[in-house]
Amino acid sequence: MEEFPKKIILMGYMASGKSSVGRELAILLNRNFIDLDVFIAENEDLSISQIFDEKGEPYFRKKEMVYLRELLHNDSAFVLSVGGGTPTFTGAIEMINEKAFSIYLKASIQTLFERLVPEKIERPLLKKIPDIALQEYIAVHLFERSHYYLKANLSVSVDFKSTNEISKEIVHLLKENGKLIH
Ligand code: S3P
Repeated sequence: MEEFPKKIILMGYMASGKSSVGRELAILLNRNFIDLDVFIAENEDLSISQIFDEKGEPYFRKKEMVYLRELLHNDSAFVLSVGGGTPTFTGAIEMINEKAFSIYLKASIQTLFERLVPEKIERPLLKKIPDIALQEYIAVHLFERSHYYLKANLSVSVDFKSTNEISKEIVHLLKENGKLIH
């Protein structure tokens, strides 16, 4: 049987496709899929937007780390999609890379902008930014975060590719890189 890393983490900017690719990749690898935002919302009994509105971003970030740590330290195999900000907080990327195999879904500013305009309102960090300023915001924010994303064990470009193509490409790369993976 194929030996894939037990814990696979997908990271990348908002709307880079972490959840949809994660769901499909988990099926291909025959294991559970976990979305960190869904996990937080279920455990806190509040939606992500409600957590931001009612408790504030620092509370969300604290919980994000608590649940990430919990998931990374259990013994189960999974594909986990984390939030766009998760790897950028103190010690997070180091912990991710120590306990799991990380993959960065790399999308261009243009791709992210086109995807985020229509769904901006659902995103606590973006909903107050006017459309006209959104592309510049994404460019700066992505630049700041890229330093962390680029520490992933593997980067996969997602522009102009379907979820299915990306998931299959990841499986292929995992097989190819098998010897390098713990
Ligand atoms: C965030 C991304 C969101 C969610 C929260 C904050 C971020 O997750 O965790 O709104 O800081 O980029 P997605 O990347 O899954 O949208």
